Amino acid sequence: MIILTSAKQMIEFARNECKLDKTIGFVPTMGFLHEGHLSLVKRSLSECDTTVMSIFVNPLQFGPNEDFDKYPRDLERDTILARQSGVDVLFIPEAKEIYPSSLSISMKAKQRTDVMCGASRPGHFDGVITVLTILFHLVQPDRAYFGQKDAQQAAVVQGLADSLMFPLEIVPVETVREEDGLAKSSRNVYLTDDERNEASILYQALMKGKIQLPALGIEGTVKEMTEMINSSSSGQIDYIEILQFPDLTPVEKLRGKIIIALAVQFEKARLIDNVIFTLEEE
Ligand code: PAJ
Repeated sequence: MIILTSAKQMIEFARNECKLDKTIGFVPTMGFLHEGHLSLVKRSLSECDTTVMSIFVNPLQFGPNEDFDKYPRDLERDTILARQSGVDVLFIPEAKEIYPSSLSISMKAKQRTDVMCGASRPGHFDGVITVLTILFHLVQPDRAYFGQKDAQQAAVVQGLADSLMFPLEIVPVETVREEDGLAKSSRNVYLTDDERNEASILYQALMKGKIQLPALGIEGTVKEMTEMINSSSSGQIDYIEILQFPDLTPVEKLRGKIIIALAVQFEKARLIDNVIFTLEEE
C-alpha cells in the first residue's frame, strides 16, 4: 500500500494511473475505520483497478459546537486496517494540503438539505461538498463509494456530481450493522455501555416503522417510533422523518421509494440511521 500525504503527490499518482488506462475507485473517509468503511473498499476493489482511500477529518463540515476536536482518531490502526483490506493508496493529507489558503469561493448545497441532518446541522453539507470537490480533483476517481447509512450525504453528493458534471459514478453501498442491528459508526465508541445496549432500539424502530407505515400513515408511524425509542433509551430524538427518496421531498402518496430516517443524541454521540424501501401502488 502506498501512503501519500501531499496534494501534489496525489494528483501525480492519479495522472499516471490515467495514462496507464487504470480505473480509480475512491473511498473518502474521516478515519477511525470500521467494517462499514471496509465494505466500501471491498466494493471498489471488485469494480476498479486501483482503490484510493482518503482519511481526512474535514473541519469545514463540523459546526462550532460539534465534535471536530473530539472526533475519534487512530491513524496507526487505520493504516493497518486499510492495508489488510487491500487499499492500494492511502491518502492522508494534513489540513494545509486540502485548504492551503482561505477559500476564495464558497459552495452551497441547495437541494435536499432543508430536511433531516441538513436542518439540524446548518452548513454541514456545504462543508461536505466543498471537501469532496477538492478530493475529487486530487484523486480523479472513475467511481466514488458512499454508505447508505449517510443516505442524505449520498443523495447530496449525487446532486454535486450531476450539477457540476464530475465525470464519475457515485456508488451507494448498503449499511453494515452490528449483530443487534446498530449501524456501525466511528461515533459508537462514545456510547456508554448502557447507551450501547439501548441503541439497538433505533434499528428496531426503523424496521417497525417500515412495516407499519402503510397502515398507520406518516404521523402515526412517527408517533409509534417516537414512543418506542423514548420508552427504551435515554437518547434524545433529534428527528424522525419519512420522505421520498432520493429527492428528500415530502411524501404525498405512500408509494415509490421512501426513506425513514432518524437522528438520536446520546450523551456524547449523535447517531443517525435509516431504512430505504419501495412501496408498491395498491
Ligand atoms: P465517514 O463518517 O468516515 O464515512 C465515510 C464513508 O463510510 C461514508 O460514505 C459513510 O456513509 C460510510 N459508512 C459509515 N458507516 C457505514 C456503515 N455502517 N455501513 C456502510 N457505510 C458506512 O462520511 C464521511 O466520513 C465524510 O462526510 C466524508 C464523505 C469523508 C467527507 O468528509
